Amino acid sequence: MKMHDNTILITGGSSGIGLELARQLIALNNTVIITGRDAAKLEAVRAQLPGVHTALHEHIAASHPGMNMLINCAGIMRKLNLHKRGATLEDATREVTTNLNGTIWTNLQFLPMLKNQANAAIVNVSSGLAFVPMPISPVYSATKAAIHSYTLSLRAQLKNSGVRVFELAPPATETPLFHNDFTKEDVGGLVPMPVATLAKRAIAGLAADVAEIRPGLSNILKIASRLAPDFMLRQLGKSVDLMLSADKNR
Ligand SMILES: NC(=O)c1ccc[n+]([C@@H]2O[C@H](COP(=O)([O-])OP(=O)(O)OC[C@H]3O[C@@H](n4cnc5c(N)ncnc54)[C@H](OP(=O)(O)O)[C@@H]3O)[C@@H](O)[C@H]2O)c1
Repeated sequence: MKMHDNTILITGGSSGIGLELARQLIALNNTVIITGRDAAKLEAVRAQLPGVHTALHEHIAASHPGMNMLINCAGIMRKLNLHKRGATLEDATREVTTNLNGTIWTNLQFLPMLKNQANAAIVNVSSGLAFVPMPISPVYSATKAAIHSYTLSLRAQLKNSGVRVFELAPPATETPLFHNDFTKEDVGGLVPMPVATLAKRAIAGLAADVAEIRPGLSNILKIASRLAPDFMLRQLGKSVDLMLSADKNR
């Protein structure tokens, strides 16, 4: 991929990985449009990142008809105790709505536009947890495995379309998402990758046409999930007891 002079839409560009990708892609001379839910957050990014565009879905085709790259980065991750009752069905599947449905819906909306562009690409952001689930985040992990599978199919179906399909599978990365719902113990003391490093690795992967970009620990998770799947699941499941006993004592 040519990684300059593109017009790039990043969903979830108001925070974390999406925001850092926006910063580095603007520095490489790309036009970047970001979306998010929180208008105040988008406004704050506009103030700190001159040159960034913020937009609502329906306005993008009209205001940026040259959009040639879509990065599906919006996502949420929660700790979920599956023993618990009381959550609404909607709440129990929030990650599915944002992470999986959001990615599918956005691609559906922008694919016709992307097909008319040169140097067109879709980047779906999954996770190292696409390869081995983290059992304290069961629905999140399932959405990321689903995004991985969906991306393989999307790539196969778009092989003759001129739209390249990438998967970015970040490892644990230093962002608000990593800290929102998780303690150090939950993640086994894991040190997250700095977000600037992750974005740099992602852009280098796109520039080199690496279809599945798996920085750092994500690559190890993929390989280990093939060599020793049970062992890896036990390792990532160590925080289950911690969560269950904390919830019992509440
Ligand atoms: N950080 C990690 O350790 C890690 C590891 C692997 C994969 N990832 C993936 O990387 C992506 C970015 O995560 P991050 O760590 O950068 O998280 P983050 O800092 O929490 O940012 C998440 C972004 O998604 C947006 N978002 C959330 N729900 C949305 C919704 N329903 N509709 C539209 N936008 C929504 C947020 O904007 P608003 O708040 O304005 O809605 C925000 O811009 C996610 O897909 C995540 O699963 C992260």
